[in-house]
Amino acid sequence: MDEDESKIERLSRLEVPFFEPGLPEIVGRNVHEGRLRFSRDLPKAVKGSKVVFITVGTPPLRDGSADTRAIFAVARVVAQQLDGYTLVVQKSTAPVGTARAVWRTMKRWARRSSQFDVASNPEFLREGAAIETFMHPDRIVIGAETARAAEILKSIHDPLFLNETPMVVTTLETAELIKYAANSFLATKISFINEIANLCEAVDADVQVVAKAIGMDRRIGPKFLHAGPGYGGSCFPKDTMALASFARAAGLRTRVVEATIAANEHQEQRMVGKIIQAIGAPRGKRVGILGLAFKPDTDDLREAPSLKIIAGLRRKGVKVIAFDPVAMPGARELPTLRGVAFGDDAYEAARGADALAIVTEWNEFRNMNLRRLRKLMRKPVLCDLRNIYDPAEVEAAGLRYVGVGRGRPRGSRRSTRSSG
Ligand code: UGA
Repeated sequence: MDEDESKIERLSRLEVPFFEPGLPEIVGRNVHEGRLRFSRDLPKAVKGSKVVFITVGTPPLRDGSADTRAIFAVARVVAQQLDGYTLVVQKSTAPVGTARAVWRTMKRWARRSSQFDVASNPEFLREGAAIETFMHPDRIVIGAETARAAEILKSIHDPLFLNETPMVVTTLETAELIKYAANSFLATKISFINEIANLCEAVDADVQVVAKAIGMDRRIGPKFLHAGPGYGGSCFPKDTMALASFARAAGLRTRVVEATIAANEHQEQRMVGKIIQAIGAPRGKRVGILGLAFKPDTDDLREAPSLKIIAGLRRKGVKVIAFDPVAMPGARELPTLRGVAFGDDAYEAARGADALAIVTEWNEFRNMNLRRLRKLMRKPVLCDLRNIYDPAEVEAAGLRYVGVGRGRPRGSRRSTRSSG
């Protein structure tokens, strides 16, 4: 159920309103087999349901805290519709204490005779890999305070236990905090490796090798150690800010998470500096931007590093021509991108450019014809902000290579051989 009429209309025509690989097929199959329907009618959706999942948006407010109003608006209507025992599962990412507050709201609006429980069941899906991360989760977290609620949630996830998915059953507050702690830790890993990348540039070391080697330590692990333009998306930026915000409200500062946020903002601006350095005096220069979505396999532009990088370049008088395989329809609608030109492919974005910057590591950017790019560009410079190319290969094709944390630019390296 969603109150957005156009979303429901599109879903009813089996059109998924965002890009997620494999999802249209699953939606289609389940609709055809009678397991899935779409509606704008909340009371109707709730009536007769044994379990109700609340999965609304919790966008950040100006002060960084999460806006949870939609959760409580839904909880109230759900409470008024209760009919027999119902389990209400608060799945939206919301500050610690929200599930308990939902219970209180429902208690206020429900009939005296209504029977219900509220549980927390945070989700750990990754956009672009939503189906895979749903079907093969690392763990399921259930915050439930009655055996009945815990049992229902367990049985819903039963098929996944065939894969022996571990399950953590805990209190509402602990479950809610697990979600924020997981995202904040992952964001911290990224800010950490980005900082090491910047240090690599200063001392002529290679972050790719550093990340690989530290990742071999099983206590550290190899994942989420890719240096780049900073993390974006609808989760990490919002959830780190919300954690810092509800920690402050609890009288505590989370200094590591605050530093993660600051380092991420710095990283995006550093990328602007990197590109400007590559093109020289910026006014009137032209930069091609490859990739707008915050990561590959999604059309999501929320908090995408590309947007901050483009804004930073344009402030310096740089002309931008961008290309993204799926995010361009959404990008064309964004007021902040008004005046940005869009190309039909990577080569069009490169035509006449003084530098080409890879901002999102879409697969199709991994195997470009470098010689063709070189011929199209005014100045052949590839700013590989995702480190997807081998610098030697790019330079062999006649382009200058600029990566993230891959040592000093060629020519300025110190030699270990003595000159005498
Ligand atoms: C993230 C978490 O990974 C999910 O577990 C969580 O469920 C989800 O948020 C959520 O809270 O809903 P998602 O935002 O879809 O998932 O994307 P990620 O793959 O985590 O990437 C986030 C950002 O970090 C992207 O901008 C990506 O480019 C960046 N990143 C990721 C790096 O810069 N380096 C890395 O090594 C990994």
